[in-house]
Amino acid sequence: MQKKVINIGLMGCGTVGGGVWKVLDTNRDIIRKRVGIEISIKKVLEKDVDKAKAAGVPVKKIISKPEIIFDDPDIDVVVEVIGGTTLAAELIKKALMAGKSVVTANKDLLAQDGQELFQIAEQNKVDLLFEASVGGGIPIIRPLKECLAANRVETVYGIVNGTTNYMLTKMSDEGSSYSDVLAEAKQKGYAEADPTSDVEGYDAARKLAILASIAFNTRVSFKDVFVEGITKVTARDIMYARELNCAVKLLAIGKDIDGKIEVRVHPTFIPQNHPLASVNDVFNGVFIHGDAVGDVMFYGRGAGELPTASAVVGDVIDCARNILKGARGRLSCTCYDHKLIKDIGETRTKYYVRMKVLDRPSVLAAIASVFGNQEVSLASVIQKRNIENIAEIVWVTHDVLENNIQDALKIIGGLSIVEEISNVIRVEG
Ligand code: NDP
Ligand code: HSE
Repeated sequence: MQKKVINIGLMGCGTVGGGVWKVLDTNRDIIRKRVGIEISIKKVLEKDVDKAKAAGVPVKKIISKPEIIFDDPDIDVVVEVIGGTTLAAELIKKALMAGKSVVTANKDLLAQDGQELFQIAEQNKVDLLFEASVGGGIPIIRPLKECLAANRVETVYGIVNGTTNYMLTKMSDEGSSYSDVLAEAKQKGYAEADPTSDVEGYDAARKLAILASIAFNTRVSFKDVFVEGITKVTARDIMYARELNCAVKLLAIGKDIDGKIEVRVHPTFIPQNHPLASVNDVFNGVFIHGDAVGDVMFYGRGAGELPTASAVVGDVIDCARNILKGARGRLSCTCYDHKLIKDIGETRTKYYVRMKVLDRPSVLAAIASVFGNQEVSLASVIQKRNIENIAEIVWVTHDVLENNIQDALKIIGGLSIVEEISNVIRVEG
Protein backbone atom coordinates (compact mmCIF):
# COMPACT_ATOMS: atom_id res chain seq x y z
CA MET A 1 0.00 0.00 0.00
CA GLN A 2 1.30 3.49 -0.91
CA LYS A 3 2.48 5.44 2.17
CA LYS A 4 0.52 8.58 3.00
CA VAL A 5 3.02 10.13 5.42
CA ILE A 6 6.66 9.77 6.43
CA ASN A 7 6.79 9.92 10.23
CA ILE A 8 9.75 11.30 12.13
CA GLY A 9 10.89 10.61 15.70
CA LEU A 10 12.82 13.72 16.81
CA MET A 11 15.32 13.10 19.61
CA GLY A 12 16.37 16.36 21.25
CA CYS A 13 14.53 19.66 20.91
CA GLY A 14 17.23 22.17 21.80
CA THR A 15 18.79 24.60 19.34
CA VAL A 16 18.89 22.28 16.31
CA GLY A 17 15.85 20.14 17.22
CA GLY A 18 13.72 23.26 17.72
CA GLY A 19 14.91 24.49 14.32
CA VAL A 20 13.98 21.16 12.71
CA TRP A 21 10.46 21.46 14.10
CA LYS A 22 10.16 25.05 12.84
CA VAL A 23 11.49 24.36 9.32
CA LEU A 24 9.22 21.33 8.82
CA ASP A 25 6.28 23.34 10.15
CA THR A 26 6.91 26.54 8.18
CA ASN A 27 7.74 24.82 4.87
CA ARG A 28 5.27 21.92 5.25
CA ASP A 29 3.46 22.58 1.95
CA ILE A 30 6.49 23.11 -0.23
CA ILE A 31 8.21 20.04 1.26
CA ARG A 32 5.04 17.92 0.69
CA LYS A 33 4.97 19.00 -2.95
CA ARG A 34 8.66 18.27 -3.42
CA VAL A 35 8.58 14.82 -1.80
CA GLY A 36 5.13 13.80 -2.95
CA ILE A 37 3.76 13.06 0.54
CA GLU A 38 3.60 14.65 3.97
CA ILE A 39 6.60 14.59 6.34
CA SER A 40 5.41 14.82 9.91
CA ILE A 41 7.12 14.74 13.31
CA LYS A 42 5.16 12.13 15.27
CA LYS A 43 7.07 12.15 18.57
CA VAL A 44 9.63 14.44 20.21
CA LEU A 45 11.96 13.02 22.86
CA GLU A 46 12.98 15.90 25.14
CA LYS A 47 13.87 16.18 28.83
CA ASP A 48 12.92 19.81 29.03
CA VAL A 49 9.21 19.97 28.10
CA ASP A 50 9.16 23.78 28.21
CA LYS A 51 11.94 23.95 25.65
CA ALA A 52 9.99 21.77 23.21
CA LYS A 53 6.79 23.73 23.87
CA ALA A 54 8.66 26.98 23.19
CA ALA A 55 9.65 25.64 19.76
CA GLY A 56 5.95 25.05 19.03
CA VAL A 57 5.71 21.29 19.73
CA PRO A 58 2.26 20.26 21.07
CA VAL A 59 2.53 18.68 24.55
CA LYS A 60 0.92 15.42 23.41
CA LYS A 61 3.85 14.76 21.09
CA ILE A 62 6.54 15.22 23.77
CA ILE A 63 7.84 11.97 25.26
CA SER A 64 10.53 10.98 27.75
CA LYS A 65 11.16 7.35 26.74
CA PRO A 66 13.04 6.62 23.48
CA GLU A 67 11.44 3.13 23.29
CA ILE A 68 8.19 4.80 22.23
CA ILE A 69 9.98 5.82 19.02
CA PHE A 70 11.85 2.51 18.48
CA ASP A 71 8.69 0.46 19.03
CA ASP A 72 6.46 2.50 16.75
CA PRO A 73 6.38 0.77 13.33
CA ASP A 74 4.92 3.92 11.77
CA ILE A 75 8.06 5.95 12.56
CA ASP A 76 10.31 5.73 9.51
CA VAL A 77 13.11 8.19 10.32
CA VAL A 78 14.84 9.13 13.59
CA VAL A 79 16.54 12.51 13.91
CA GLU A 80 19.22 12.48 16.65
CA VAL A 81 20.05 16.01 17.81
CA ILE A 82 20.66 15.33 21.48
CA GLY A 83 24.44 15.57 21.08
CA GLY A 84 27.20 13.94 23.15
CA THR A 85 28.61 10.52 22.40
CA THR A 86 27.38 7.91 24.89
CA LEU A 87 23.59 8.20 24.87
CA ALA A 88 23.50 9.38 21.25
CA ALA A 89 25.47 6.28 20.13
CA GLU A 90 23.08 4.01 21.96
CA LEU A 91 20.00 5.73 20.52
CA ILE A 92 21.33 5.75 16.95
CA LYS A 93 22.29 2.06 17.09
CA LYS A 94 18.88 1.08 18.45
CA ALA A 95 17.10 3.15 15.81
CA LEU A 96 19.14 1.62 12.97
CA MET A 97 18.60 -1.88 14.34
CA ALA A 98 14.87 -1.16 14.53
CA GLY A 99 15.01 -0.58 10.76
CA LYS A 100 14.69 3.20 10.89
CA SER A 101 16.79 5.59 8.83
CA VAL A 102 18.72 8.06 10.98
CA VAL A 103 19.70 11.69 10.48
CA THR A 104 22.22 13.23 12.85
CA ALA A 105 24.24 16.43 13.24
CA ASN A 106 26.56 14.77 15.75
CA LYS A 107 30.13 15.35 14.57
CA ASP A 108 31.62 14.30 17.91
CA LEU A 109 30.08 10.86 17.60
CA LEU A 110 30.72 10.35 13.87
CA ALA A 111 34.39 11.37 14.15
CA GLN A 112 34.79 8.79 16.91
CA ASP A 113 32.48 5.86 16.06
CA GLY A 114 31.53 6.53 12.44
CA GLN A 115 32.79 3.21 11.10
CA GLU A 116 30.72 1.09 13.50
CA LEU A 117 27.57 3.16 12.95
CA PHE A 118 27.82 3.02 9.15
CA GLN A 119 28.30 -0.77 9.34
CA ILE A 120 25.13 -1.11 11.40
CA ALA A 121 23.24 1.10 8.94
CA GLU A 122 24.46 -1.03 6.04
CA GLN A 123 23.58 -4.31 7.77
CA ASN A 124 20.07 -3.00 8.36
CA LYS A 125 19.74 -1.50 4.84
CA VAL A 126 18.78 1.94 6.11
CA ASP A 127 20.19 5.44 5.66
CA LEU A 128 22.48 7.21 8.11
CA LEU A 129 22.80 10.81 6.89
CA PHE A 130 24.81 13.60 8.52
CA GLU A 131 24.95 16.70 6.29
CA ALA A 132 24.73 19.09 9.29
CA SER A 133 27.74 17.55 11.04
CA VAL A 134 30.20 19.66 9.00
CA GLY A 135 29.59 23.29 8.10
CA GLY A 136 26.09 23.46 9.64
CA GLY A 137 23.85 24.74 6.85
CA ILE A 138 26.50 24.49 4.10
CA PRO A 139 25.88 21.63 1.66
CA ILE A 140 29.23 19.83 1.65
CA ILE A 141 28.83 16.13 2.53
CA ARG A 142 26.44 15.27 -0.29
CA PRO A 143 28.27 17.42 -2.91
CA LEU A 144 31.49 15.59 -2.00
CA LYS A 145 29.84 12.15 -2.11
CA GLU A 146 27.76 12.74 -5.22
CA CYS A 147 28.44 15.83 -7.34
CA LEU A 148 32.24 15.51 -7.03
CA ALA A 149 32.30 11.69 -7.20
CA ALA A 150 34.01 11.84 -10.62
CA ASN A 151 37.10 13.51 -9.11
CA ARG A 152 40.21 12.40 -7.33
CA VAL A 153 40.14 14.94 -4.50
CA GLU A 154 43.63 16.26 -3.83
CA THR A 155 43.09 18.87 -1.10
CA VAL A 156 40.40 19.97 1.30
CA TYR A 157 40.84 23.26 3.16
CA GLY A 158 38.15 24.22 5.64
CA ILE A 159 37.28 27.02 7.99
CA VAL A 160 34.83 24.86 9.88
CA ASN A 161 34.61 26.42 13.32
CA GLY A 162 32.57 29.60 13.56
CA THR A 163 33.63 30.57 17.09
CA THR A 164 37.35 30.70 16.32
CA ASN A 165 36.79 32.35 12.95
CA TYR A 166 34.80 35.08 14.69
CA MET A 167 37.61 35.53 17.24
CA LEU A 168 40.40 35.68 14.64
CA THR A 169 38.38 38.10 12.50
CA LYS A 170 37.85 40.43 15.47
CA MET A 171 41.52 40.23 16.48
CA SER A 172 42.46 41.08 12.93
CA ASP A 173 39.93 43.87 12.28
CA GLU A 174 40.08 45.56 15.66
CA GLY A 175 43.49 44.58 17.01
CA SER A 176 41.71 43.09 20.07
CA SER A 177 43.44 40.63 22.38
CA TYR A 178 42.63 36.92 22.51
CA SER A 179 41.04 37.17 25.96
CA ASP A 180 38.83 40.13 24.98
CA VAL A 181 37.48 38.44 21.84
CA LEU A 182 36.89 35.19 23.71
CA ALA A 183 34.79 37.06 26.28
CA GLU A 184 32.87 38.74 23.43
CA ALA A 185 32.29 35.41 21.64
CA LYS A 186 30.84 34.00 24.89
CA GLN A 187 28.64 37.02 25.40
CA LYS A 188 27.24 36.72 21.86
CA GLY A 189 26.50 33.02 22.45
CA TYR A 190 28.98 31.76 19.81
CA ALA A 191 31.41 30.17 22.24
CA GLU A 192 30.22 27.67 24.85
CA ALA A 193 30.67 28.40 28.58
CA ASP A 194 33.55 25.91 28.23
CA PRO A 195 35.06 26.88 24.85
CA THR A 196 37.88 24.29 24.97
CA SER A 197 36.66 22.24 22.04
CA ASP A 198 36.44 25.33 19.80
CA VAL A 199 39.64 27.20 20.77
CA GLU A 200 41.81 24.07 21.04
CA GLY A 201 40.72 23.02 17.54
CA TYR A 202 39.00 19.74 18.57
CA ASP A 203 35.67 20.71 16.98
CA ALA A 204 37.40 21.53 13.68
CA ALA A 205 39.42 18.29 13.90
CA ARG A 206 36.24 16.22 14.26
CA LYS A 207 34.75 17.93 11.22
CA LEU A 208 37.98 17.39 9.26
CA ALA A 209 37.93 13.67 10.16
CA ILE A 210 34.45 13.42 8.62
CA LEU A 211 35.36 15.46 5.51
CA ALA A 212 38.64 13.63 4.89
CA SER A 213 37.00 10.20 5.25
CA ILE A 214 34.64 11.10 2.42
CA ALA A 215 37.08 13.07 0.26
CA PHE A 216 39.81 10.41 0.34
CA ASN A 217 37.62 7.27 0.70
CA THR A 218 39.53 6.09 3.76
CA ARG A 219 38.44 6.12 7.41
CA VAL A 220 39.91 9.06 9.33
CA SER A 221 39.04 9.42 13.02
CA PHE A 222 39.43 12.35 15.37
CA LYS A 223 42.49 10.74 16.96
CA ASP A 224 44.27 10.65 13.56
CA VAL A 225 44.13 14.43 13.15
CA PHE A 226 47.03 16.63 14.30
CA VAL A 227 45.49 19.50 16.26
CA GLU A 228 46.76 22.85 17.46
CA GLY A 229 44.29 25.51 18.62
CA ILE A 230 44.33 29.30 18.45
CA THR A 231 45.22 29.98 22.09
CA LYS A 232 48.77 31.13 21.27
CA VAL A 233 47.85 33.49 18.41
CA THR A 234 48.51 37.11 19.41
CA ALA A 235 47.67 40.49 17.94
CA ARG A 236 51.38 40.74 17.02
CA ASP A 237 51.23 37.60 14.89
CA ILE A 238 48.20 39.03 13.13
CA MET A 239 50.07 42.28 12.50
CA TYR A 240 52.94 40.36 10.88
CA ALA A 241 50.46 38.29 8.86
CA ARG A 242 49.06 41.53 7.40
CA GLU A 243 52.56 42.71 6.56
CA LEU A 244 53.11 39.44 4.71
CA ASN A 245 49.77 39.94 2.87
CA CYS A 246 48.22 37.05 4.73
CA ALA A 247 45.18 36.36 6.94
CA VAL A 248 45.34 34.07 9.98
CA LYS A 249 42.71 31.30 9.98
CA LEU A 250 42.18 28.13 11.99
CA LEU A 251 42.45 25.89 8.96
CA ALA A 252 41.41 22.25 8.70
CA ILE A 253 43.72 20.78 6.05
CA GLY A 254 43.33 17.43 4.33
CA LYS A 255 45.66 16.32 1.55
CA ASP A 256 46.07 13.14 -0.43
CA ILE A 257 49.69 13.12 -1.58
CA ASP A 258 50.47 10.03 -3.64
CA GLY A 259 48.02 7.94 -1.65
CA LYS A 260 49.24 9.11 1.77
CA ILE A 261 46.92 11.30 3.80
CA GLU A 262 47.71 14.49 5.72
CA VAL A 263 45.11 15.68 8.22
CA ARG A 264 45.88 18.66 10.41
CA VAL A 265 44.14 21.56 12.10
CA HIS A 266 46.17 24.59 13.18
CA PRO A 267 46.33 28.37 12.90
CA THR A 268 47.55 29.10 9.39
CA PHE A 269 48.74 32.10 7.42
CA ILE A 270 46.93 32.09 4.06
CA PRO A 271 47.44 34.67 1.29
CA GLN A 272 44.94 37.56 1.41
CA ASN A 273 43.93 36.75 -2.16
CA HIS A 274 42.94 33.16 -1.30
CA PRO A 275 39.11 32.82 -1.36
CA LEU A 276 39.16 31.47 2.24
CA ALA A 277 40.83 34.67 3.49
CA SER A 278 37.55 36.51 3.02
CA VAL A 279 35.52 33.97 5.02
CA ASN A 280 35.02 36.12 8.10
CA ASP A 281 33.06 36.33 11.38
CA VAL A 282 31.10 33.19 12.25
CA PHE A 283 30.91 32.06 8.63
CA ASN A 284 32.44 28.77 7.47
CA GLY A 285 34.01 27.92 4.12
CA VAL A 286 35.30 24.72 2.56
CA PHE A 287 37.66 24.86 -0.43
CA ILE A 288 38.26 21.68 -2.39
CA HIS A 289 40.56 20.86 -5.28
CA GLY A 290 39.54 17.94 -7.49
CA ASP A 291 41.57 16.73 -10.46
CA ALA A 292 38.69 17.27 -12.89
CA VAL A 293 36.71 20.15 -11.42
CA GLY A 294 39.68 22.22 -10.23
CA ASP A 295 38.89 24.55 -7.30
CA VAL A 296 35.42 24.70 -5.74
CA MET A 297 34.34 26.54 -2.63
CA PHE A 298 31.33 26.17 -0.33
CA TYR A 299 30.42 29.08 1.94
CA GLY A 300 27.72 29.82 4.51
CA ARG A 301 26.57 29.61 8.10
CA GLY A 302 28.30 26.82 9.95
CA ALA A 303 25.96 26.77 12.95
CA GLY A 304 22.73 28.12 14.38
CA GLU A 305 19.16 26.97 14.74
CA LEU A 306 17.74 27.40 11.23
CA PRO A 307 20.89 26.97 9.08
CA THR A 308 21.67 23.67 10.83
CA ALA A 309 18.02 22.59 10.64
CA SER A 310 18.13 23.33 6.89
CA ALA A 311 20.75 20.60 6.48
CA VAL A 312 19.03 18.17 8.86
CA VAL A 313 15.66 18.53 7.12
CA GLY A 314 17.37 18.17 3.72
CA ASP A 315 18.63 14.79 4.95
CA VAL A 316 15.16 13.86 6.23
CA ILE A 317 13.78 14.64 2.77
CA ASP A 318 16.43 12.40 1.20
CA CYS A 319 15.55 9.58 3.62
CA ALA A 320 11.88 10.01 2.70
CA ARG A 321 12.62 9.91 -1.03
CA ASN A 322 14.75 6.79 -0.59
CA ILE A 323 11.96 5.10 1.36
CA LEU A 324 9.42 5.96 -1.34
CA LYS A 325 11.71 4.68 -4.11
CA GLY A 326 12.74 1.55 -2.18
CA ALA A 327 16.34 2.84 -2.27
CA ARG A 328 17.29 3.05 1.40
CA GLY A 329 21.01 2.70 2.07
CA ARG A 330 21.81 4.32 -1.30
CA LEU A 331 24.26 6.79 0.23
CA SER A 332 26.19 4.32 2.34
CA CYS A 333 29.78 4.54 3.58
CA THR A 334 32.36 5.20 0.84
CA CYS A 335 35.52 4.39 2.83
CA TYR A 336 36.65 1.46 0.68
CA ASP A 337 40.38 2.27 0.94
CA HIS A 338 42.96 1.98 3.74
CA LYS A 339 45.38 4.84 3.12
CA LEU A 340 48.30 5.61 5.42
CA ILE A 341 47.93 8.72 7.53
CA LYS A 342 51.17 10.69 7.80
CA ASP A 343 52.66 11.68 11.12
CA ILE A 344 52.90 15.48 11.45
CA GLY A 345 56.71 15.17 11.41
CA GLU A 346 56.55 13.87 7.82
CA THR A 347 54.54 16.81 6.48
CA ARG A 348 56.03 19.70 4.51
CA THR A 349 54.90 23.30 4.57
CA LYS A 350 56.18 26.85 5.07
CA TYR A 351 56.60 28.34 8.54
CA TYR A 352 56.45 31.77 10.15
CA VAL A 353 58.73 31.91 13.20
CA ARG A 354 58.69 34.92 15.55
CA MET A 355 61.46 35.20 18.13
CA LYS A 356 63.24 37.61 20.46
CA VAL A 357 67.01 37.73 20.21
CA LEU A 358 69.92 39.82 21.47
CA ASP A 359 70.43 42.80 19.17
CA ARG A 360 74.13 42.47 18.38
CA PRO A 361 76.40 41.48 15.48
CA SER A 362 76.32 37.91 14.04
CA VAL A 363 73.10 36.91 15.80
CA LEU A 364 71.05 36.56 12.60
CA ALA A 365 73.90 34.71 10.89
CA ALA A 366 74.18 32.25 13.80
CA ILE A 367 70.45 31.48 13.73
CA ALA A 368 70.35 31.25 9.94
CA SER A 369 73.20 28.77 10.03
CA VAL A 370 71.29 26.47 12.42
CA PHE A 371 68.29 26.58 10.10
CA GLY A 372 70.59 25.79 7.16
CA ASN A 373 72.27 22.87 8.96
CA GLN A 374 68.84 21.33 9.58
CA GLU A 375 67.86 21.76 5.91
CA VAL A 376 65.42 24.57 6.66
CA SER A 377 65.53 26.92 3.71
CA LEU A 378 64.65 30.56 4.51
CA ALA A 379 62.50 32.79 2.31
CA SER A 380 62.53 36.09 4.22
CA VAL A 381 63.40 37.82 7.48
CA ILE A 382 61.89 40.90 9.13
CA GLN A 383 63.40 42.82 12.03
CA LYS A 384 61.03 45.37 13.54
CA ARG A 385 61.10 46.12 17.20
CA ASN A 386 64.09 46.73 19.44
CA ILE A 387 63.54 47.16 23.15
CA GLU A 388 66.57 47.38 25.46
CA ASN A 389 68.87 45.45 23.14
CA ILE A 390 66.27 42.76 22.41
CA ALA A 391 65.19 42.56 18.78
CA GLU A 392 62.06 40.87 17.47
CA ILE A 393 62.80 38.81 14.36
CA VAL A 394 60.36 37.10 12.06
CA TRP A 395 61.54 34.37 9.69
CA VAL A 396 59.49 32.83 6.90
CA THR A 397 60.75 29.56 5.46
CA HIS A 398 60.29 27.81 2.14
CA ASP A 399 58.53 24.42 2.17
CA VAL A 400 60.40 22.34 4.73
CA LEU A 401 59.92 19.09 6.61
CA GLU A 402 58.20 19.52 10.00
CA ASN A 403 60.76 17.25 11.71
CA ASN A 404 63.60 19.43 10.36
CA ILE A 405 62.16 22.72 11.55
CA GLN A 406 61.31 21.27 14.96
CA ASP A 407 64.92 20.03 15.32
CA ALA A 408 66.21 23.46 14.27
CA LEU A 409 63.92 25.27 16.73
CA LYS A 410 65.08 23.01 19.56
CA ILE A 411 68.69 24.01 18.90
CA ILE A 412 67.88 27.70 18.33
CA GLY A 413 65.76 27.85 21.52
CA GLY A 414 68.85 26.71 23.48
CA LEU A 415 71.19 29.41 22.11
CA SER A 416 72.25 32.09 24.60
CA ILE A 417 71.57 34.80 22.01
CA VAL A 418 67.89 33.79 21.82
CA GLU A 419 65.59 35.11 24.54
CA GLU A 420 62.48 33.26 23.38
CA ILE A 421 60.81 31.64 20.41
CA SER A 422 57.55 33.57 20.65
CA ASN A 423 55.42 31.71 18.12
CA VAL A 424 55.55 29.35 15.15
CA ILE A 425 52.66 29.35 12.66
CA ARG A 426 52.37 27.27 9.50
CA VAL A 427 51.88 29.03 6.16
CA GLU A 428 49.85 27.58 3.24
CA GLY A 429 49.88 28.71 -0.35
P1 NDP B 1 21.22 21.47 22.59
O1 NDP B 1 21.90 21.21 23.88
O2 NDP B 1 20.67 22.83 22.33
O3 NDP B 1 20.02 20.43 22.40
C1 NDP B 1 20.04 19.10 22.84
C2 NDP B 1 18.71 18.84 23.49
O4 NDP B 1 18.60 17.44 23.83
C3 NDP B 1 18.54 19.63 24.79
O5 NDP B 1 17.29 20.25 24.81
C4 NDP B 1 18.67 18.54 25.85
O6 NDP B 1 17.93 18.85 27.01
C5 NDP B 1 18.09 17.36 25.14
N1 NDP B 1 18.48 16.10 25.78
C6 NDP B 1 19.71 15.76 26.24
N2 NDP B 1 19.67 14.52 26.76
C7 NDP B 1 18.41 14.08 26.64
C8 NDP B 1 17.75 12.88 27.01
N3 NDP B 1 18.39 11.90 27.64
N4 NDP B 1 16.43 12.75 26.74
C9 NDP B 1 15.77 13.75 26.15
N5 NDP B 1 16.34 14.93 25.76
C10 NDP B 1 17.65 15.10 26.01
O7 NDP B 1 22.23 21.06 21.44
P2 NDP B 1 22.23 21.57 19.92
O8 NDP B 1 20.86 21.54 19.40
O9 NDP B 1 23.03 22.79 19.81
O10 NDP B 1 23.11 20.43 19.23
C11 NDP B 1 22.57 19.15 18.91
C12 NDP B 1 23.55 18.40 18.04
O11 NDP B 1 23.75 19.13 16.83
C13 NDP B 1 24.93 18.20 18.64
O12 NDP B 1 25.42 16.96 18.26
C14 NDP B 1 25.75 19.32 18.02
O13 NDP B 1 27.12 19.03 17.95
C15 NDP B 1 25.15 19.35 16.63
N6 NDP B 1 25.31 20.62 15.93
C16 NDP B 1 24.88 21.78 16.52
C17 NDP B 1 24.99 22.99 15.85
C18 NDP B 1 24.48 24.23 16.43
O14 NDP B 1 24.54 25.27 15.77
N7 NDP B 1 23.95 24.25 17.65
C19 NDP B 1 25.60 23.03 14.51
C20 NDP B 1 25.98 21.76 13.97
C21 NDP B 1 25.85 20.59 14.67
P3 NDP B 1 18.70 19.58 28.25
O15 NDP B 1 19.20 20.89 27.71
O16 NDP B 1 17.63 19.71 29.27
O17 NDP B 1 19.83 18.67 28.62
N1 HSE C 1 31.02 25.30 18.08
C1 HSE C 1 30.78 25.14 16.68
C2 HSE C 1 31.33 26.36 15.94
C3 HSE C 1 29.31 24.97 16.43
O1 HSE C 1 31.71 27.37 16.58
O2 HSE C 1 31.44 26.31 14.73
C4 HSE C 1 28.97 24.35 15.10
O3 HSE C 1 29.42 23.04 14.97
